[in-house]
Amino acid sequence: MKTLAVMSRKGGAGKTTVSVNLALAARAMGVKAVLADADPLRSACEVLRGRDEAAGLLMETTASKLFALTEACRRGGADLLIIDTPAAPEADVAEAVKVADLCLAVSRPTYLDLAAAVRSVAIIQRLGKDGMIVLNQCAPARHGVEPPAVVKAFEALRFAGLPVTPIALRSRLVYQTAFAQGRSVLEIDGDGAASGEVRELFRHVWRVMSGGSRAPLRTANDDLKRPAARASGLTFSPRHA
Ligand SMILES: Nc1ncnc2c1ncn2[C@@H]1O[C@H](COP(=O)(O)OP(=O)(O)OP(=O)(O)O)[C@@H](O)[C@H]1O
Ligand SMILES: [Mg+2]
Repeated sequence: MKTLAVMSRKGGAGKTTVSVNLALAARAMGVKAVLADADPLRSACEVLRGRDEAAGLLMETTASKLFALTEACRRGGADLLIIDTPAAPEADVAEAVKVADLCLAVSRPTYLDLAAAVRSVAIIQRLGKDGMIVLNQCAPARHGVEPPAVVKAFEALRFAGLPVTPIALRSRLVYQTAFAQGRSVLEIDGDGAASGEVRELFRHVWRVMSGGSRAPLRTANDDLKRPAARASGLTFSPRHA
């Protein structure tokens, strides 16, 4: 079993959105994923508790119980445990990082979120863990051209000390509509752009966690060197508007 801690030291960055959508994408792709809600606000529980399979999908927990919960999920035959963490206190975030095989720091492309991402990286590195940063709530590219704020965020994260996922999640209403229905974006608009982003992000994270990728992770730096050939809107392209 692999454990993924989804984190951000900034409230509202999208930890719960990423955690829930990755967990449900994993299950849709045949990976037995369990989601641990370690945030006292219980947002993940709020979204998922009405689902038929909630008992096998969702665990309500606290930072101090994460080690025992991880062992229980391992014994129970889960393939993947995803931990939705609170923004604070730092000690609670650190407990999730300690039990994780990989940490995924979520950041919007804004100054304060990027500063928080740097603080997340510091925790991950202090505890000697692997991590990646994913940008969320990015404005969509127009005609294949990235909004300046997204380009600047990727540039700033070149110096953050961890790779940035090649898939950025865009700001799309469907993420909010899906939560209102207790579902993932894959379940309400499987062919839509958001579903494509989530599937790609999950594949990337799972490949890294499974050690399937022999190639080094692509970083924001590499992305900025690539020509802006992708017009799908799913993958960051570096052309300035
Ligand atoms: N990519 C996105 N597009 C549109 N809305 C989004 C996106 N990501 C998150 N949101 C919305 O932003 C709000 C905050 O997201 P979310 O609850 O996932 O953040 P969080 O980091 O878990 O917050 P908290 O710190 O309160 O736990 C929610 O209303 C969510 O629906
Ligand atoms: Mg949350």
